Amino acid sequence: MPHVEWTSDFETGNEKVDGQHRQIFELLNLLSNAIKEKKTKKVIREVIEKLTIHILEHFRDEEEFMSVSAYPSLHEHKIIHEKIFDQAFELIEKYRSGELEIATPLVVFLAHLITTHIQKEDKAFFNWLKKTENR
Ligand SMILES: [Fe+2]
Ligand SMILES: [Fe+2]
Repeated sequence: MPHVEWTSDFETGNEKVDGQHRQIFELLNLLSNAIKEKKTKKVIREVIEKLTIHILEHFRDEEEFMSVSAYPSLHEHKIIHEKIFDQAFELIEKYRSGELEIATPLVVFLAHLITTHIQKEDKAFFNWLKKTENR
C-alpha cells in the first residue's frame, strides 16, 4: 500500500505551505491506511472528501501567496493546480460511482501528482522568491 513519507526534499522553507503540504501527506496516508484496513466505502469517501478540501484550500492559499508576491509564473501554476484537481476529481468520481472498485489507484495517482508538483513547480516558486528577495 502506498505511503508518502515527508523528507527534507519537500521543504519549501515556508512554514504555512510546508504545514499544508504535510497535512496533505498525512491525509494521503490516512486514506491509504483506511483502504488497507478495509474500512467501509463511507469512511473512505469521508477521507477522500477531507483530502479534497485540503488540497483545494492549499491551492487557493498558495495562489494567493504567489499573487501578492507578483510571481510571473502564477498563471502557469494555476493551470497546473487546475489540471491536478481535474484529474483527481475524475478519479474520485469514478470511485464514487462504483466504476472504480478499489481506491488504491487513486492514492497512488494522487501521491504521485502531489509529490512531483511540490518538488518541481512549488519549489520553483520558492527559489524564485528567494532570488527576488535577495536582489
Ligand atoms: Fe503546494
Ligand atoms: Fe502548487
